[in-house]
Amino acid sequence: MHPDDVRQKYLDFFRKQQHAILPSAPMVPENDPTTLFTGSGMQPMITYLLGEAHPKGKRIADSQRCFRSQDIEEVGDNRHTTYFEMLGNWSLGDYFKQEQLNWVFTFLTRELELDPQKLYVTVFSGSEKLNISHDQESVEIWQKLFAAAGCSTGVVKNPDTEGMAKDGRIFFFNEKKNWWSRAGVPDNMPVGEPGGPDSEVFYDFGAELALHEDSSFAKLPCHVNCDCGRFLEICNSVFMQFQKQADGSFTELSQKNVDFGGGLERLAAATINNPDVFATQLFTPIISKIESISGVTYDADEKSRYAFRVIADHIRAAVMLASDGVLPANKEQGYFVRRLLRRAIRYAHDLGIKQPFLTELVPVVAAIYAKAYPQVTEQQEKITTAFALEQQKFQKVLEKGLRHFSTLKKVDGESAFQLYETYGFPFELTQELARERGLDIAADDFNKARADHAAASRTASAGKFRGGLQDTSEIATRYHTATHLLHAALRKLLGTTVQQKGSNITGKRLRFDFSHDRSLTESEISQLLSQINEWVAADLPVSKKIQKKEVALKSGALAFFGEQYPDEVSVYTIGSEKDWVSRELCGGPHVTHTAEIGKLQFMKQQAVAAGVRRIYLQVESH
Ligand code: ALA
Repeated sequence: MHPDDVRQKYLDFFRKQQHAILPSAPMVPENDPTTLFTGSGMQPMITYLLGEAHPKGKRIADSQRCFRSQDIEEVGDNRHTTYFEMLGNWSLGDYFKQEQLNWVFTFLTRELELDPQKLYVTVFSGSEKLNISHDQESVEIWQKLFAAAGCSTGVVKNPDTEGMAKDGRIFFFNEKKNWWSRAGVPDNMPVGEPGGPDSEVFYDFGAELALHEDSSFAKLPCHVNCDCGRFLEICNSVFMQFQKQADGSFTELSQKNVDFGGGLERLAAATINNPDVFATQLFTPIISKIESISGVTYDADEKSRYAFRVIADHIRAAVMLASDGVLPANKEQGYFVRRLLRRAIRYAHDLGIKQPFLTELVPVVAAIYAKAYPQVTEQQEKITTAFALEQQKFQKVLEKGLRHFSTLKKVDGESAFQLYETYGFPFELTQELARERGLDIAADDFNKARADHAAASRTASAGKFRGGLQDTSEIATRYHTATHLLHAALRKLLGTTVQQKGSNITGKRLRFDFSHDRSLTESEISQLLSQINEWVAADLPVSKKIQKKEVALKSGALAFFGEQYPDEVSVYTIGSEKDWVSRELCGGPHVTHTAEIGKLQFMKQQAVAAGVRRIYLQVESH
């Protein structure tokens, strides 16, 4: 089945079950200092899972574009990708296990026409420590569904020792496998974080795949969660009903939610009964193009196949990120696009591609998404220009850099820094080359300044951003409301041509980008700050309303980013209904009164791009 049809069938199916269908949120989350990218479908839904009313009701579905930076070096097998789409549906305190598991089964077997005999499921085995019992309700629902489809319904309590067992269909696993939260297992969850037991569905690509020669697998009985390649997890229903407490225990949330995620790439692979996601039409046009550029075939040998997968994944992810406005750069999100492109160039070099090729792949990716995301085609020219430049910069020095690398006996801070400065090797690329050639990176040899430099360049690639936790901390909330005041004050001072172009908040400051063609004068800055602080001191109320988009826009609410908003939106007003100072379409959260923000002070201003300025503010107490 074509992946476009998989996506469409999913959205149509859940529309029929009275779900509001939302457009995908951007891959770069707004006002979320803890994560650089949207890494799962539920990330934009957090506040609603915690109980805030969603403007579109209690049943929501979408296909969310995601990027997982931590998976860059996992790419190369048949299932890992950095960019992916997650089909999602949510019950926000509405339906629960019965409806959810029924719909999942119906969607998989009737809409996608997957053979029920090839589907296996897992459920939560319970935990004494958490005082949560095993999920018998899900077991019984699954048993009825499989029995009605003429399939075995055996329950396997100890898959690690019993393996697939005779007639095994439903497998128990503990919180290591069948508990989902953004932070993973219950112990890793921060206080306040929601999570719950889940039930995963696996697709069986054939027992012959389990007959491998790798003895590390052969020693253990194969079961659905075995990594041998026979089974692929295709979707997951999380019963998000618990919240972590300060003493480590869990209490029930005020509402029982369902959070479902199904990987489009993997579901598409199941529909063609091929465990290689790179064999789906989300990738085949890219693979064919690389074949014609390199003259090598995808299946030539394992090493080439690995290179094909890296290049195809990385170019696709880079194009999709660029279409969300993230272009190659030395910092933050842009650094990941740079890393992806340079890694792709290096692997293309291994395939013998020495000429510029990235720009030839951009239209291929755009064509794959012509129907679902026409904005990629609209931005094709801009993306091509940026990638051409990146390719030009790196390809020139790659060959020399690799030659230099081959003379090294060890890689220390000095040489890693030189590879970065002279040859543009991202630090992670140097690490990867060192690993491949059995050289150690002596981290101790970094002198501090150089280490800091490398760290600043690779910013968030380390664990810091892994969790994808949205920051709803008090200080982030205060800064978030402050961005609205800053936006309003800028427009009052400089005119309504000023538009927000982006913002970013950390626990220590806010950063705000806006359209303007020159830097602000000292007097403008002082006027701006006194206006904002006047509003803060006036302790204006901050109120939220759910409205039809047209009504909100008519009432003067600002909406930016070329973002696709749903028909009903939440609108934050600062000031009274009649005499307000700021009104914006926004998901929150915000303080309730402006005095909670505290007095703000100016830190610095910068130019970001032609016609875009950046301002940093912080509260005085920092
Ligand atoms: N949020 C769940 C996941 O990402 C559905 O697997």
